[in-house]
Amino acid sequence: MITTAPADGSRPLSLLRNWLSLSGLVIMLGGLFSFCLLFLLDSLAHFSNPYIGILTYLIAPGFVLLGLVMTGAGALKQKHKPGYSSGTFTRVFVDLSRPRDRKVAGLFIAGSILFLLVSAVGSYQSYHFSESTQFCGQACHTVMKPELVTYQHGSHARVACVECHIGPGAKWFVKAKISGTYQLYAVAFNKYPRPIPTPIKNLRPAQETCEQCHWPKKFVGNLDRTYESFLGDETNTPYTVRMTMKVGGGDPTHGPLGGIHWHMNVGKRIEYLSTDPARQKIPWVRMVDAQGVVTEFRAKGFTNAIAESALRRMDCMDCHNRPAHAYQSPNAAVNLQLALGRIDRTLPWIKTNAVFVLTRNYTNETQALQRIATHLSTQYPNEHRIRAVIEVVQEIYRDNFFPDMSASWKKYPDNIGHKDWPGCFRCHDGRHTSADGLHILKANDCNTCHTILTQGGGGQLDVLTPNGQKFKHPGDEVEGACSDCHNGGL
Ligand code: HEC
Ligand code: HEC
Ligand code: HEC
Ligand code: HEC
Ligand code: HEC
Ligand code: HEC
Repeated sequence: MITTAPADGSRPLSLLRNWLSLSGLVIMLGGLFSFCLLFLLDSLAHFSNPYIGILTYLIAPGFVLLGLVMTGAGALKQKHKPGYSSGTFTRVFVDLSRPRDRKVAGLFIAGSILFLLVSAVGSYQSYHFSESTQFCGQACHTVMKPELVTYQHGSHARVACVECHIGPGAKWFVKAKISGTYQLYAVAFNKYPRPIPTPIKNLRPAQETCEQCHWPKKFVGNLDRTYESFLGDETNTPYTVRMTMKVGGGDPTHGPLGGIHWHMNVGKRIEYLSTDPARQKIPWVRMVDAQGVVTEFRAKGFTNAIAESALRRMDCMDCHNRPAHAYQSPNAAVNLQLALGRIDRTLPWIKTNAVFVLTRNYTNETQALQRIATHLSTQYPNEHRIRAVIEVVQEIYRDNFFPDMSASWKKYPDNIGHKDWPGCFRCHDGRHTSADGLHILKANDCNTCHTILTQGGGGQLDVLTPNGQKFKHPGDEVEGACSDCHNGGL
């Protein structure tokens, strides 16, 4: 099929008439096509995705560039072939009247179409892949393992990572794109922090994530909650608190205003200043009600001036900051497994021993699992029941402790209650007062947020007190904030 064609005026174009340049053109076209498709998908999609940027702005243009280089190289080679300029050189010239030419041209066209199709399907598939939980959670395995594992055990295990972390909208599209690209760089060059620090600075506000699924006007009312614990004594004495949690609601048209979700009252604003990166110290709070009446609360002794730009408006995540990634503390995890009967409560001192092995520091998971097994089996020699307990304790470790990323309950405060972390008591500590002294964010009124229906163990639990009982701390009366003593290991 190679024939001699007369040199005519269309030299620049005819330079491309060689197989290398033609293939280059097809690859270029494929890249361009993928780019347009990805760009379109990304801008039309409900959720924009940070990692898709890598495909759209790096890989697809990469193919365009490759095609360009091939085309150029083909043309250059062509030009430097002896005889090209004299016009006697043989160039690709397709004569469709000849069967061989028809076959080759047909193959070339079919190949090109196939390539375009494959690049379209490929782009579309990789787009979907990078949206998936599998990609977010597993692509950079060690880095995201703590979040993926805890997520799989949480109530949002069926909500995709991107629903909370990316979400729709142009502004977040750009933000996510920049941080997504940075994250890939950080992983590739091993520059990521361990553990990943929280609070996440650029997390989308709750109105655009949580409130897309959870209707903020919903009236929740009272919830019945039972907390089962076991004491660290020889008999692992059960100690249970059952209480009515006054969650209430924040919208007066759907239920009486009040309770814990009162903070979310539509039309009201609570803003606060925190003086540490983890938002655990809150010396100043401002409440603006629906009528615009402003009340400021200051912690005792805090006199600094307030910069408006440093304030944060309170939303769902100031209390529910671990909706998807809850790292159980050793104490909480062992309490749960004892309550479920998966750790045999009749083994003497098992609560103390199980919590003890889980609070040690280990360099990696393999070492931890081994030490857990050896420690517990030496504590209970000649006791066959310990085998099952070891398995459960190892499971607790695997699900909640991630030494490779140094992620565990210790690193991630949980703000929902007040036992192991200050939580609600960051503000409600009885030390935040308004300037006139009339308003106090109280802590010692234990019935503000919940009423204790019953507490203790055995027959004590049969008597319910709807109006609430005074809290009886196990053992002696205690003074001070709960989190002064309780730290997840106690
Ligand atoms: C229900 C919403 C939700 C879902 C679903 C979700 N996350 Fe999160 N994620 C959060 C919140 C809230 C935080 C804590 C933010 C803060 O404290 O600033 C967080 C924190 C993180 C952090 C920071 C480290 C940490 O543990 O706090 C990473 C990394 C993370 N998520 C990754 C993921 C991955 C990967 C998935 C999917 C496997 C996922 N998330 C699914 C809401 C969610
Ligand atoms: C894509 C939808 C979706 C988004 C976004 C979402 N959730 Fe949920 N949430 C759910 C579903 C589904 C459940 C489980 C309900 C059930 O099975 O009872 C749930 C359960 C909950 C619960 C009750 C269970 C528990 O763990 O205590 C809380 C609290 C909660 N979500 C808070 C949040 C917060 C805070 C955010 C924002 C960071 C959020 N959710 C974002 C869908 C969502
Ligand atoms: C002042 C802290 C606080 C804020 C702010 C807050 N919540 Fe809650 N919420 C709670 C507490 C405490 C509970 C009871 C949880 C428990 O007992 O484990 C709760 C319970 C819930 C539940 C579970 C209800 C059920 O039926 O099980 C959901 C869902 C929920 N909150 C969603 C939200 C959403 C969405 C927002 C933001 C609009 C929000 N919360 C804001 C403290 C808060
Ligand atoms: C950033 C500070 C802050 C945090 C954290 C906080 N609150 Fe509040 N809370 C307030 C303010 C301010 C008020 C209004 C007090 C007043 O009106 O005197 C309030 C009021 C309340 C009320 C009374 C509502 C009513 O019916 O009048 C309840 C109940 C409550 N909070 C529960 C909680 C719980 C539970 C938590 C933790 C999960 C929590 N709060 C965390 C600032 C906070
Ligand atoms: C500002 C609201 C608020 C006040 C005031 C408050 N609590 Fe709580 N408390 C909570 C919330 C919210 C939880 C639920 C935590 C959770 O679901 O993990 C809780 C949980 C508890 C628990 C169960 C803890 C566990 O994990 O076993 C006990 C016990 C308790 N509170 C006792 C008290 C006592 C005693 C006081 C008075 C000194 C008090 N609370 C004052 C909000 C409050
Ligand atoms: C002075 C230190 C101290 C303070 C303050 C304190 N506790 Fe305790 N708490 C203890 C000790 C010690 C135990 C016994 C631990 C054991 O036997 O395993 C305990 C046991 C408990 C238990 C049962 C055991 C378990 O596994 O959870 C609960 C529930 C509890 N405390 C709740 C609270 C609450 C809620 C507060 C705040 C109102 C509080 N504690 C304040 C020291 C304290």
